[in-house]
Amino acid sequence: MSQSSHRILFVCLGNICRSPTAEGVLKFLAAQEAPLLNLEIDSAGTADYHIGDAPDPRSQLAAQRRGIDLSGLRARQVQLSDFSDFDLILAMDRDNLRTLERLRPAGSRAKLRLFLDYLGQDPSPQDVPDPYYGGAAEFDRVLDLVTAASRGLIQSLQQRSQ
Ligand code: 4NP
Repeated sequence: MSQSSHRILFVCLGNICRSPTAEGVLKFLAAQEAPLLNLEIDSAGTADYHIGDAPDPRSQLAAQRRGIDLSGLRARQVQLSDFSDFDLILAMDRDNLRTLERLRPAGSRAKLRLFLDYLGQDPSPQDVPDPYYGGAAEFDRVLDLVTAASRGLIQSLQQRSQ
């Protein structure tokens, strides 16, 4: 097993629904299923609307139903140093990926990708739909997609560590 670490940043718009959910789910699954992977996981938003806020209560509830506690997370905005501090920046949808591509300093090391590239489905949805104006079903759908993509990401990182 390689000793390399992986620094992973999830990015959505507000950093109160999708990306903190991904942060909490990947931390939970990695601790349970892949503790040797040595992951550092964080999340951020491309917008500044919710800086300092806890995850949306609807996200917290959907995650809590699956045994995952998001209550300690606080929203922050993407900053330029993220492009050198992280190995992999995973956008929750194509809009946020485009924003990240515009922000990215030339020559920065972080790899930018869509999170759902790790779903491993063909055909695959590309975007985790924004649940902010939806209801409980939309928040549950975020949990489903994020859990499946997290498992795919863990598998991909494990294959590269062998
Ligand atoms: P997120 O969801 O990007 O998944 O955190 C949203 C949160 C807040 C807003 C939009 C999307 N907003 O418009 O305030």
